[in-house]
Amino acid sequence: MKVRIFDTTLRDGEQTPGVALTPDQKIAIAQRLDELGVDAIEAGFPIISDGERQAIRAITGAGLKADICGLARTEQKDIDAAASVGLKYIHTFIATSDIHLKYKLKLTREQALAKAVDAVKYAKSLGLKVEFSAEDATRTDREFLKKVFKAVTEAGADRLDIPDTVGYSTPQYIAEITKDTIDATHLPVSVHCHNDFGLAVANAISAIQAGAQCAHVTINGIGERAGNASLEELVMGLQCLQFDKKYETNINTKLLYETSRFVSKIVGVHVQPNKAIVGENAFGHESGIHTHGVLSNPLTYEPISPELVGRTRWFQVGKHAGAHGVSAMLEEYGIQPTKEQTHEILEKVKKLGDAGKHITDVELLGIAGEIMQQP
Ligand code: KIV
Ligand code: ZN
Repeated sequence: MKVRIFDTTLRDGEQTPGVALTPDQKIAIAQRLDELGVDAIEAGFPIISDGERQAIRAITGAGLKADICGLARTEQKDIDAAASVGLKYIHTFIATSDIHLKYKLKLTREQALAKAVDAVKYAKSLGLKVEFSAEDATRTDREFLKKVFKAVTEAGADRLDIPDTVGYSTPQYIAEITKDTIDATHLPVSVHCHNDFGLAVANAISAIQAGAQCAHVTINGIGERAGNASLEELVMGLQCLQFDKKYETNINTKLLYETSRFVSKIVGVHVQPNKAIVGENAFGHESGIHTHGVLSNPLTYEPISPELVGRTRWFQVGKHAGAHGVSAMLEEYGIQPTKEQTHEILEKVKKLGDAGKHITDVELLGIAGEIMQQP
């Protein structure tokens, strides 16, 4: 099954605390996303500013292959702002959970439902393609959620989205409400998962297994608070993990690492070293047991080949190192110590490691040189 990748780096990703992008930066990222092969780009939230509208107008006019979408509340002025920048596709949303209705919107359930229906009808009257999100869907009364999705479907929505706005769902629950939504409407369903409990990718995968056709994701998982489902993790998980069905995407996975670096540099948010797929350490090996295993067959300690995501593996010598790893690293520099010399080099590396020292390649070469030059 082909899973549609809806990238919201330029909208929800830009809502990362401390991030603000210029129109030129947004356009540059949109171009990279298009080269990566995402199916849809949420370019921004047109109502919010002149710069945002300028960026979205340029992105919609750039001749990209991806569908370009813009966010709009269920307000006519938001939908008009989206149409005014050349968008043909909007993502409109209104909160449906009681907590949002009572404290944020100050609306009854029935009033929110009416606003949702009116907005969808209005957007359709302008000829727009409409994806409708029930914000905070996973904390919404289950019967009411179905009622809202049914009503907006009847009003003409083209796609539905289930946002796990505060990352509150479990994989099992999001699968259940995904099935409910599909059974009640027969429209294509997306999921939009936040990572507050570190479950965004697991929840998105579970919803896809339950029949969702699309996931909203961001590069490096950036987004509000703990972020959104990470594009890299979701795409590689779908492609490489074991399922009873085969899942594919249009992503050119070999571009994942360079796209991650590009976005990280522009938005100024570092990728944590131990982040799956794109973190610095994701294909780095330190312990002797692991290094030996990987040198014999990389699949022993790598679930996928690093080249698949545009990376190479690397080894680090440290206190957990073994003779195989040290020899392999020195071999890369054309240095072949004897067995006894390797043992001595290893002893020195371990002593430095015990003293809390991180050993670079240059230092390793220095240690090897010293030992090998001894008479
Ligand atoms: O997380 C969320 O609920 C959103 C909405 C705008 C869909 O980003
Ligand atoms: Zn969101």
